[in-house]
Amino acid sequence: MAVTYELIKEEKNTKARLGKLYTPHGVIETPIFMPVGTKATVKAMTPEELKDMQAQIILSNTYHLYLKPGHELIEEAGGLHKFMNWDRPILTDSGGFQVFSLGELREIKEEGVHFRSHIDGSKHFISPEKSIEIQNSLGSDIAMAFDECPPYPASREYVKKSLERTTRWAKRCQEAHKKPDTQAIFGIVQGGMYKDLREQSVKEITELDFPGYAVGGLSVGEPADIMYEVLDYTVPLLPKDKARYLMGVGTPDYLFEAVIRGIDMADCVLPTRIARNGTVITSRGKLVVKNAKYAKDFTPLDPECDCYACKNYTRAYVRHLFKANEILASRLTTTHNLYFLIKLMENIREAIKEDRLLEYREEFYKKYGYDL
Ligand code: GUN
Ligand code: ZN
Repeated sequence: MAVTYELIKEEKNTKARLGKLYTPHGVIETPIFMPVGTKATVKAMTPEELKDMQAQIILSNTYHLYLKPGHELIEEAGGLHKFMNWDRPILTDSGGFQVFSLGELREIKEEGVHFRSHIDGSKHFISPEKSIEIQNSLGSDIAMAFDECPPYPASREYVKKSLERTTRWAKRCQEAHKKPDTQAIFGIVQGGMYKDLREQSVKEITELDFPGYAVGGLSVGEPADIMYEVLDYTVPLLPKDKARYLMGVGTPDYLFEAVIRGIDMADCVLPTRIARNGTVITSRGKLVVKNAKYAKDFTPLDPECDCYACKNYTRAYVRHLFKANEILASRLTTTHNLYFLIKLMENIREAIKEDRLLEYREEFYKKYGYDL
């Protein structure tokens, strides 16, 4: 099997787990946050910089790479790892989520999804088979099954039909897979905010026996407590000996709450996206460094952070770079935000080791200014 999960320890007071994920490009310590490199680059960062901040795995996207530059080109280049000069693990999302986000531009059928490119309006079709063909060409360590992520809110009737189709698509993905020795496919659980439908989806998807499972369809606009509730009843139904990945989550509070409920992996564009807009995540909460009040603030973005940006530059300087539209602005804030979340997950792993995750969460939230 291309990817296996080893459960090392369960925390005493929560459902948090410490584990190792073995992949063709190396071992990942979990729980882990995965930086997003949608178009074969984590925006503003070189692979060397990502390694310096201890990034263990990155995520990329089937939909975007299929449209540009095309998966055949990446295959010709020797695969995504070689193309982008990243030799650690890569996970690719299946394209389902991105295609569904196109709204008016797409039509869902049993066979697959017809859509128009957000770039030039050209017509395309992605099926489960096509998604796997693309991900095979990209050569990611972990491919995701092609699923449908229903919007929030959605009717029970719609979500039920949709999750049943997601199961049929998951099976088709497995049948289309050409690289089981070098690439794993993870199944995706759907079922919206309905307990019985989540149970049904877990049952159907786990029966297909994937080497790992994702919880999809969350962080789609529902209130935080609803997401936590869905995790409360969904995650314990997943097999203990497989990795569990929560898709699309990457704020400190969501990461804590997900890990406490038994999640091992998460990804989100948010930390890199808000960085480019001049917002940083710090131990004292979010900070909009572009604000006028930081014009003469000669302290680091986060005085408690050891990243390259915090060790060498001030808020006043980074604000100036944003005001002057300088490229270095985004590079420094992205460096900080990614380092911050990667370090947070490392601290979380340490806390799990010592059975003090709840204490660590309380300490973190108190400073961060988040009330549970
Ligand atoms: N990213 C965030 N949520 C989802 C989801 O439900 N499915 C997929 N494929 N990707 C996602
Ligand atoms: Zn920093």
